[in-house]
Parts: sequence; structure tokens; C-alpha cells
Amino acid sequence: MGKGRRRIGVLMGGMSAERDVSLRTGDAVAAALAGRGHEVVKVFVDRDLDRILRQSAIDVAFLALHGRYGEDGCVQGLLEIMGIPYTGSGVLASALAMDKLKAKELFRLHNISTAPYYVIDARRLADIEDVHGSFGFPVIVKPRREGSSIGVTRADDPQELARAAEAALQFDSEALVERFITGKEVAVAVLDGRVLGGIEIVPKKGFYDYQSKYQKGMSEYHFPARLGPTRYRGVLNLGEAAHRALGCSGATRVDLIVTEGENEYVLEVNTLPGMTPTSLLPKIAAGAGMDFGDLCEAILGSARLHAANRVEAELEEEGATAGADPAEKLAV
Ligand SMILES: Nc1ncnc2c1ncn2[C@@H]1O[C@H](COP(=O)(O)OP(=O)(O)O)[C@@H](O)[C@H]1O
Ligand SMILES: [Mg+2]
Repeated sequence: MGKGRRRIGVLMGGMSAERDVSLRTGDAVAAALAGRGHEVVKVFVDRDLDRILRQSAIDVAFLALHGRYGEDGCVQGLLEIMGIPYTGSGVLASALAMDKLKAKELFRLHNISTAPYYVIDARRLADIEDVHGSFGFPVIVKPRREGSSIGVTRADDPQELARAAEAALQFDSEALVERFITGKEVAVAVLDGRVLGGIEIVPKKGFYDYQSKYQKGMSEYHFPARLGPTRYRGVLNLGEAAHRALGCSGATRVDLIVTEGENEYVLEVNTLPGMTPTSLLPKIAAGAGMDFGDLCEAILGSARLHAANRVEAELEEEGATAGADPAEKLAV
């Protein structure tokens, strides 16, 4: 490790269904940071992550992970224990944001509107028509803890509902059935507690599914979102409120639907938003005057430890001899 030069580990890959997206995010981030003169190593995440982290001797972790184990607080917890500062939200906020049910419960507590819903699990799948009762159609069915629209389907009748629930339950033990909200899809980016802006997404067909997200030309984007100034401001404030309700830090992207009428609904908060060439956060940042390198630099600058004992960890770090592996000091 060079004197005064931090070694940055870009954590990528991982064990979730969003592994491919993570690899693309990681490649883009690592190239941008290296291009800016940083010492960067790619750290491929699997179950041996603790060992890999010790061997790579990184000083800070740039998380380019998405989904389970990477975005849900698990990796964050390991990094807290190892004393390696990391980008994005802490353990609790990461876990809350990944869990769409817990996030919705908190949104309701904070008067942040979210689509009406119920939860279905595999044991009740056979009775889904009864459970559904008078909930109505259309609905959108999604796994409780997933991302990238994986396992998300729209259903317009009971047959489609049964199929959609079965599909969502391939990815999680529970699924959310939500009222389908017709309106403009807007994503709001928050960076270091400041709103960067809101982009409008127009998928060429259907909703913003996996293909519309990652295949070039499958969606149109408008920045800023095509809303009147007062409404736009309101949507940005709602995005910021959702970020705060879950206690997030670093960069987040809040997904919302804005109806023709007066209503706005928060769908979810992403604590490690995609940074692939088609991703929304870089598009929003660009609209706000930050290029991809600036964005990576700003996210890196927000890397930290969050746990209550972080003062202790910082003191230990200050007392460390140059070149010491921060992980070694904390070994028991
Ligand atoms: N209640 C809803 N009404 C209409 N469309 C929805 C609703 N929930 C999700 N969608 C569509 O599905 C996409 C993915 O849903 P989202 O809740 O953001 O989960 P993911 O974590 O997979 O991105 C959204 O971007 C939107 O296009
Ligand atoms: Mg989303």
C-alpha cells in the first residue's frame, strides 16, 4: 500500500440474482476510479469474502453489489466488523430498504404514500383467489426482497395472478401483491442527503421490467421528469423523505409513480443503485452536471463506518502503523 494512498476495493459479483448487473456496475466504477488515478482492485464477492478482504488489504470498499447479501446489510455487517469503511447505507437502512414489506411499513408510519398491498406466501398459494378477495385488478406481484424487476409481473385476472404469484415465489418465500398504479414512472436520486434530480422513464412496452432496464433502446428517458415545477419539487421532496424514513446514506435512487391526478406513490428505495451504462443514477447525475467519474468520486467520498462503536474504530485506525492491514488489528 503506497503511503497516503488509499487502496480501493470495488466489491462486485456476489450471490444474488442480480450478479450480472453487479459485474457491469463494478466494471464501470473500477474503470472510472482508476481513470481518476485511484489505486483500485476488483474484489469478487462469494462466501469466502472475509478471507478475500484480508488478502486484498483494501482501505475502503466501494460497493458495486446489488440484491441479497450485497445490498441487504449482510456485507455491510462484515465490513463494520472488519473496520473497513464502505459506500452506501449502513446495516439497518440497507436491510430495511431491501425488504419491500418493512420499507412499506415505515413509509406508512411516515405518511409517505405507497401502493395498497397484501402479502402472500407459498403455503397460501392454492387459496390465492380467496386471499385476494375484493382487492381488484390490475395488480403487480413482486418478491418481498429482490431487485432489477426480477420476478415482477403484472396480473389482470385471477389466472394471471396465480401465475404471477408462483413466479415471484421462485425468488422469495413471500411475495407482495400491489395495486397497479397507472402513471409516470420517476426515479429520484439522493446523494449525501441532497436531491440530485428526478428522471422520467417511459418503457417502450409494458412496465419497467428487466429487459426495459438493461437492453439499450427499450426505454426512453426525460430529465428532468416532465412535470410542472411545483409537482416536480413535490416528487423530489417525497423521494428525499423516503430516503430519510429508512435512514439511508450515500447515494440512493427512489423509484416512484406519479399519477395523472394528485397522487404520488413510492415504490422502493435502492441503497446501491445500478451504475451500468444504461442505469438511471448516472443519467440523473449527468443531468445535474456531474459526469460518471465525478459521481463515483462523490460516492467514494461518502464511504464510512456506521456502527455505534465507530469512534473506537477511528481511534484505532489513527494509531495504526502505515501499511498495517486494518483487518489484522481487529482480529481476535
Ligand atoms: N404498484 C405498482 N404499480 C405499477 N407499476 C409497478 C408497481 N410496482 C412496481 N411496478 C413496476 O415494476 C418495476 C419494478 O418494481 P420495483 O418495486 O421498483 O422493484 P425492483 O426492486 O425489482 O426494481 C417498477 O419500476 C415499475 O415499472
Ligand atoms: Mg425498482
